[in-house]
Amino acid sequence: MRLRVDLLPHGNYPDVVLVIDTLRATTTAVTYLERGAEALLLTRTPEVALGLKGDGFLLGGERGGLPIPGFDFGNSPVEAQSQNFTGKTVVMNTTNGTGASHVAAQSGKHIFLAALTNAHAAARRARAQATEEVAIVCAGTDERVSLEDVYTAGVLAEYLLSLGEFTIDDGARIALTVRRNSGNPLEALSSSLHGGRLNNLGLGEDVSYAAQLSTSTVVPTLVQGEDVPAGTL
Ligand code: MLT
Repeated sequence: MRLRVDLLPHGNYPDVVLVIDTLRATTTAVTYLERGAEALLLTRTPEVALGLKGDGFLLGGERGGLPIPGFDFGNSPVEAQSQNFTGKTVVMNTTNGTGASHVAAQSGKHIFLAALTNAHAAARRARAQATEEVAIVCAGTDERVSLEDVYTAGVLAEYLLSLGEFTIDDGARIALTVRRNSGNPLEALSSSLHGGRLNNLGLGEDVSYAAQLSTSTVVPTLVQGEDVPAGTL
């Protein structure tokens, strides 16, 4: 079994994909489902999301870390944690995380959303599902590598290696090194560029929330078509 880490999404995934956008899209996606959402739809553009407004859909997303005009919510997991989404489908569009999910959906067979908050559950699900490869895909920020995503990839890789035999690529070696040299999750996330940006926007609580390790066993699964727990549009 191969284990690889892409520090940025680039496609061509033959088997299982774990998509990471720890600050904050995948952390928020886990939280929506934790708070009762029936499904998530990850759109390519805000316009597609706005076209779904109403009809039982709620819209959540951001640009520059701030809510998109016309959306019901921003992309704050702390905000999501305070709401009850029972029976709702949440439509998400964010700067990087939803796009990375679309890249994964173009070729991956089994695609799961991962963050620190569901790290162990996501790793277990990926190991159970994979037959040839687990690809961990970091969303990054504005097409540049994000420390928080690589750190999360290192946490996932470390746990996957404890679950079974893998041959690992240099991306995985880099992620493991970052994990082992960046302190605890809160230190790592707080020292990241995007973590600093969120703190400056007054969204520091999101950084602390996203740094919680394996507090959830929810693993959003991207599927195409109807009745999607988490689909792409
Ligand atoms: C992303 O897509 O990179 C994040 O959602 C950005 C954010 O929420 O601040």
